[in-house]
Amino acid sequence: MKNRALNNRALNNQAMNNQAMKNQAMESNALTLKHIGKSYSVDGKVFPVIRDISLEVAKGEFITIVGHSGCGKTTLLKMIAGLVECNEGEIIRNGVKATAPGTDCGMVFQDHRLMPWLRVKANVGFGLRRMKRRERAELVQRHLQLVNLEEFSSAWPHQLSGGMAQRAAIARGLVTDPEILLLDEPFSALDALTRIQMQLEILQIWRKKKTTMIMVTHDIDEAVFLGERVVIMTACPGEIREIVSIPGNVRLHRDSTEFAQYRDYVFRHFFVDEKDAGMTKSHRVS
Ligand SMILES: Nc1ncnc2c1ncn2[C@@H]1O[C@H](COP(=O)(O)OP(=O)(O)OP(=O)(O)O)[C@@H](O)[C@H]1O
Ligand SMILES: [Mg+2]
Repeated sequence: MKNRALNNRALNNQAMNNQAMKNQAMESNALTLKHIGKSYSVDGKVFPVIRDISLEVAKGEFITIVGHSGCGKTTLLKMIAGLVECNEGEIIRNGVKATAPGTDCGMVFQDHRLMPWLRVKANVGFGLRRMKRRERAELVQRHLQLVNLEEFSSAWPHQLSGGMAQRAAIARGLVTDPEILLLDEPFSALDALTRIQMQLEILQIWRKKKTTMIMVTHDIDEAVFLGERVVIMTACPGEIREIVSIPGNVRLHRDSTEFAQYRDYVFRHFFVDEKDAGMTKSHRVS
């Protein structure tokens, strides 16, 4: 009897230690998603959009997310940003339950969303309105330099090219020094060459600022090039189909055989349900 009580106590202690270790790991995460679910209601009908998504993102990690159109990627980012509520589960952002937007988490959208009535510097500094003028000007200047736009600080948004406007949006997302930057297909409207240049720039920024980056993209090449882990989602309702870790020595070498193998692997798992996606037999996952 006494032995059983001792064993129970030992098991309880073990469980408490495990929980403490789990809590510690969670605290060192930038983001923890626990069984997230989301449905939208349209004309009285309920449509599930996201189903049971769990994910842990370490501080400073670069995650890319690929998934079919309409599988809930933007909804997922908006829930992380606290712009949309989830129906199920819990989102822990920087150790705190995320229920509202905060300066710890910035977001860059597919379209730049710069305010046309404000100059570039005022757009970038918009989130710093409460800061003293001088400090604010310094921060804005530093972030315009980071995205190579310092010469255009007084320009109006309509005077920028697509790539420049997207850079300004990235500067605006980073200026509050968020722990997490969410990027929702930020380069999809750009031409191929500007896009490659922007990918290199975002990598440099990531290395300099060590911000945790979570980027949604439809471009598998981009996902493998930038992501330390690539999250592949299923079609709607979006679930995580697979998470592929890309080794550091592979992801940055776009012309290597290993890179091509990873890209092919993500491609095959992305189209796993598609019988008519123009795939040869060798592309299909058996
Ligand atoms: N506010 C809303 N009310 C109702 N339905 C919505 C709302 N926002 C999104 N949806 C629906 O949720 C689904 C997922 O939308 P979401 O924008 O998250 O997809 P996505 O994966 O980002 O797609 P895409 O790759 O085309 O950007 C879609 O069917 C969309 O119609
Ligand atoms: Mg979207």
